[in-house]
Amino acid sequence: MEPFRIKAVEPIPMRTTEERQRILAEADYNIFRVHSADVTIDLLTDSGTTAMSSKQWAAMFLGDESYAWASSYERFERAVRELTGFPEVIPIHQGRAAERLLFTVLLRPGQITAANGHFDSTRANVEQVDCQAEDLPCPEAAELVSEASFKGNIDLGRLQKLLVGPDGEQVAVVILTVTNNGGGGQPVSLENIQGAREICRRYEIPLLLDASRFAENAYLIITREPGQQNRTPREVARAMFDLVDGCWASLKKDGMSNTGGLIALRDAKTAARCRELLTISEGFPTYGGLAGRDLEALAQGLQEVTDPAYLAHRADTAAWFAGALTKAGLPTLRPAGCHAVYADAGQLLPHIPPENFPGQALVCELYRLAGVRTTEFGTLAFGQDGGQAPNELVRLALPRRVYTRSHLEYVVDAVGDVVGRARELTGFTITGPQPPMRHFTVKLIPLQEGRDSP
Ligand SMILES: Cc1ncc(COP(=O)(O)O)c(C=O)c1O
Repeated sequence: MEPFRIKAVEPIPMRTTEERQRILAEADYNIFRVHSADVTIDLLTDSGTTAMSSKQWAAMFLGDESYAWASSYERFERAVRELTGFPEVIPIHQGRAAERLLFTVLLRPGQITAANGHFDSTRANVEQVDCQAEDLPCPEAAELVSEASFKGNIDLGRLQKLLVGPDGEQVAVVILTVTNNGGGGQPVSLENIQGAREICRRYEIPLLLDASRFAENAYLIITREPGQQNRTPREVARAMFDLVDGCWASLKKDGMSNTGGLIALRDAKTAARCRELLTISEGFPTYGGLAGRDLEALAQGLQEVTDPAYLAHRADTAAWFAGALTKAGLPTLRPAGCHAVYADAGQLLPHIPPENFPGQALVCELYRLAGVRTTEFGTLAFGQDGGQAPNELVRLALPRRVYTRSHLEYVVDAVGDVVGRARELTGFTITGPQPPMRHFTVKLIPLQEGRDSP
């Protein structure tokens, strides 16, 4: 059962299928353009959608809104230092702002970042400074249905090869995204972080974590990695941080709050340069674009997120949800992680080719039939500039502490209905301009059944 009870409630919007059909057309079939008031169950993202605890709301009232050196910053700094062991702590308003700052400081044009998987905003920020983002996922990452425990691992062999190859000198940073959101929310093992650590030390390259879901990664290490079962999530998280030179995070995830981010480093010089830029674009280094009350909520959230009962419930919910969706006929990526279940729209809709976005067809039909909002993680999101994503996934994200089992049962029923209509679904084509991270803004139109489809 949920290890919490509910103190404040929100009504859930209900629309008819006909209303949603019109809403979808008015939104140009881009689910990011649909208003939340028209969404019944919102599984668009786990980012910033957390229900905060009574302790977090109470802490917010203690927010110190002083411009410089507010006591709220000191509480936040203490919470991050205790958790990570990094002496340099920089608050920032969200993850991608941290990425922009760090990459501006660490990279020169033409350099390369190597990762188990760059998230879309991470890649965009690497490319923004005229550098190249190289994904080196382990081979198991491509096996959607195998039960391999750590599909989020970086391929250490390929990393080593890249570093000794002709482009080796250009590799400026190695990144491990924990868990790997772009690759199905799969975890990275401690053994893999250790392996990356050794390689990075040999070639004197900094190793950083994108630690947005550090607690979920730590919990999956405890349940899956031999020898880790008797440790607490906090101990394992600390072991992860101890192996790297620093991290950044979107705290809209495992910060258990509605906004926030951080950069935490060992190196004082890099931190000083980040703070210079922070002051220009975000604010004084002790608030970094956040209110004192946000820092209070984050300091408390960073305590709550490593509660073993909370993490066990979260992992169990994702595993149950994945199993129920599979039973309803939706192929899902195995094994389930924590923050989402990823459906394989490519397998469900083999008659829609990647260039017509089978994932988007599934997203739109789930919304049209049941008001369930999900997001495409396939060629629409990751295939900009004519590329093709490795898999046509749809992410059903799980906001933290928001939906109960019966809400998810409603989604499972809706998925059953969509699966029954799978053969009738058609793909989409993009109309109009495609800015970077196009999936947030592009307009689409459905292919006419039997006419435009290849
Ligand atoms: C792994 C990862 N890194 C970075 C980000 C960017 O964080 P934000 O949305 O706070 O800018 C996200 C957001 O979803 C993410 O999942």
